[in-house]
Amino acid sequence: DAQKRREKMLELNRRAALAFHRWLYAPEGAHGLDYLRRRGLSPGTLTRFGLGFAPDTWDALIQEMAKQGYDKRDLLDAGLAVSNKDGRIYDRFRNRVIFPIIDVRGGVIGFGGRVMDDSTPKYLNSPDTPVYNKSRNIFALNIAKKSKAGRVILTEGYMDTIALHQAGFDNAVASLGTSLTEEHAQLLSRYFKDAILSYDGDGAGIAAAQRAIPILEKAGLKVRVLRVTGAKDPDEFIKTHGRDAFARLLDKSENQVDYRLAQLQSKFDLTDDAQKVAFLQEAAQLIAARPSAVEREIYGGHAAQMAGITSESMAQEVSRALRHRL
Ligand code: UTP
Ligand code: MN
Ligand code: MN
Ligand code: MN
Ligand code: MN
Repeated sequence: DAQKRREKMLELNRRAALAFHRWLYAPEGAHGLDYLRRRGLSPGTLTRFGLGFAPDTWDALIQEMAKQGYDKRDLLDAGLAVSNKDGRIYDRFRNRVIFPIIDVRGGVIGFGGRVMDDSTPKYLNSPDTPVYNKSRNIFALNIAKKSKAGRVILTEGYMDTIALHQAGFDNAVASLGTSLTEEHAQLLSRYFKDAILSYDGDGAGIAAAQRAIPILEKAGLKVRVLRVTGAKDPDEFIKTHGRDAFARLLDKSENQVDYRLAQLQSKFDLTDDAQKVAFLQEAAQLIAARPSAVEREIYGGHAAQMAGITSESMAQEVSRALRHRL
């Protein structure tokens, strides 16, 4: 039945993860080990995350798992093998470093595999299977859920999360490039009350953070936004500026309302009166959507300060926006 099938698949995945991990230290994995070391990962990090290597052959995993009693069909079902149009079946992950994806119960549910050069696709991921659904699972939550930090740092990527853990931030997780879903947010809210969004600093990362904010809020999480500057993403930031600098970014992270006000402000030239009015009207709408009067007063004050007007007139603008919402 379905449950038996899931259990068998989890066991196959666990064995595959062990095989990938062993290959990382075997002669055929030398390139992979070298790549991960060059990216700054310590031996302890490699074991902690069970990183691995998929050899540069068509069927290393199929052969290895055959020895352990699994046939090609099992690997196809688990997304570990693919078949081409001639019906030939071969390993999905070849010549890539491997990131196992582990759920909160400790089961190996899927994998990501990265090329070691500039070829594409950069990352290949397990497809959705009976044990893996990318819109429901979060990378490294199995570790982060035990953190004493009391808040979660949400990143985009495998390497961001791993680099943060290596730097001592054991509360980092990744949504793995897919846009954050309500299910992701629900899952996070089971373990945390506060979330710090720490996506890539590029346009895509900023847009993804904007979309994630209301989804996290809806799940009851308080949201702050951290922006990496002078680096592409948290991984690169830590590599260039170090862990203390990242800790300072965490301290400087903004409440999501202030963050959105700042984002909004950057679209207007506040030295121009007409644009200042337009900014304040949009800001008033954003603030009117806040559920409590206290929040509306606080952030109204912040918007007023940004534009150099009194908080009284901003409060009136917010009231007007509120009436129009009803
Ligand atoms: P990025 O392109 O920002 O990659 O995608 P990255 O995490 O910084 O990776 P490195 O540092 O180059 O190794 C963010 C995330 O989106 C997913 C991966 O989960 C990645 O970590 N992604 C990206 C894919 O699934 N496939 C891709 O081809 C690219
Ligand atoms: Mn990106
Ligand atoms: Mn990166
Ligand atoms: Mn990135
Ligand atoms: Mn204030």
